[in-house]
Amino acid sequence: MRKKPYMLATDLDGTLVGDQSALQRLLQHYEESSIEVELVYITGRHYTSATSLIALENLPKPDILITDVGAAIYSSEKLTEDTTWEKKMLMNWHPERIIRLSSFFPALKRQTLPSTKRISFTIDQNDGIVKQFENALVEENIPHKLIYSSNRDVDILPENSGKGEALSYILQNYANDDVKVLIAGDSGNDIDMLTLGHPSVIVGNAQLELIQMENHPYLYRATEHFAGGIHEAWLHFYK
Ligand code: GLC
Ligand code: MG
Repeated sequence: MRKKPYMLATDLDGTLVGDQSALQRLLQHYEESSIEVELVYITGRHYTSATSLIALENLPKPDILITDVGAAIYSSEKLTEDTTWEKKMLMNWHPERIIRLSSFFPALKRQTLPSTKRISFTIDQNDGIVKQFENALVEENIPHKLIYSSNRDVDILPENSGKGEALSYILQNYANDDVKVLIAGDSGNDIDMLTLGHPSVIVGNAQLELIQMENHPYLYRATEHFAGGIHEAWLHFYK
């Protein structure tokens, strides 16, 4: 794959997806300014769910697709899985221990997923349960990374996973050193990548957990929603 001078690394639901006409304006801006932008989608969805959304919303095909909150990376024309990353994710990963421990927390409803690359749950009322679960995982010495988003989703990921780790890997292995990147997100599972220190945008419709996030010099808080917020930030950083 030829490396491009710019990169848009964006979450899908609630960020790139949500306002079709704003999305069209963003894509048109890229076309008219004839800058080459490498498209990296970084989503919490699993592969089939992500590719269905891409088709349903008529999104441009990404150069790289990161799924499962950073637990899997797909690249090249055919979107084949990056096996180096896959091997790294499988180190110290014990999904069966996580599943067993979660049975002591009935408030955690297991999400139905096609693989055990990550173990995810939803919870209706937290009441400190997520913290208790996290403490139990630590007490049992189960390597993991816990991500809580949108007051609902609890993802347990391999310890070196997450959207931030996955994007750092992409920047190191698939991009030019001086690539001009914009990172975009709207909810808790995006914090990891929004805090890497690169130009980043929190879209105007973001969840409370991002509104409350600490600032950094390259973090831009957009007024516009969804792709409109990405567009606003793109003009702010790169024109
Ligand atoms: C997406 C995924 C879900 C995950 C959530 C938070 O909604 O479909 O499985 O828990 O993102 O990362
Ligand atoms: Mg989102």
